[in-house]
Amino acid sequence: MLPLAPNHFSSHTDSRERRTEIISTIEGKVVAITGASSGIGEAAARLLAERGAKVVVGARRSERLEKLVAAIPAKNGEARFRTLDVTSREDMKAFMDFGKAGFGHVDVLVNNAGIMPLSPMTALKVDEWDRMIDVNIRGVLNGIAAVLPDMKARGSGHIVNYPPW
Ligand SMILES: NC(=O)c1ccc[n+]([C@@H]2O[C@H](COP(=O)([O-])OP(=O)(O)OC[C@H]3O[C@@H](n4cnc5c(N)ncnc54)[C@H](OP(=O)(O)O)[C@@H]3O)[C@@H](O)[C@H]2O)c1
Repeated sequence: MLPLAPNHFSSHTDSRERRTEIISTIEGKVVAITGASSGIGEAAARLLAERGAKVVVGARRSERLEKLVAAIPAKNGEARFRTLDVTSREDMKAFMDFGKAGFGHVDVLVNNAGIMPLSPMTALKVDEWDRMIDVNIRGVLNGIAAVLPDMKARGSGHIVNYPPW
């Protein structure tokens, strides 16, 4: 018989304990999320803030970020936003500096910003290919470069990458 995976929950009690453990791990953590103006990034920001994280959200559509931050109740986590284009190395660095200035440091970077235009290769939408490389690859690398030195210096940190490569 195969051993159970460590995150396999055998009962509701185990599951509740694990949930409590996860929440206490998230509480107070500073989490920077790129591409949080919609979709998964926005939902992640809401959930993490609800569980007590301090979230720093970035994307190009700042009016949506402003609404998101305003909707996060103060009794839970804290949230701040900054306009961000992940394809710009300088912008990404400024985003992380903004997070540090607001909350002291960044524990987690969620490289969520990404685009997925779909078309057959034969359509030769080469501008879209370029754009995907800029956002999904260069954007992720810009994020890593902006946050890794501080994480190394502090001896801790997490980087989560979503965009399809
Ligand atoms: N949904 C899926 O089934 C699925 C599957 C596999 C992977 N993913 C990946 O998961 C991530 C989130 O997907 P989603 O479905 O939530 O997509 P979404 O709703 O389209 O959200 C994408 C986010 O990326 C941001 N973004 C795009 N270009 C950006 C740029 N240059 N700089 C900063 N932000 C930028 C957008 O914000 P602005 O337009 O405001 O900048 C938006 O907030 C993406 O990386 C996607 O590729 C999704």
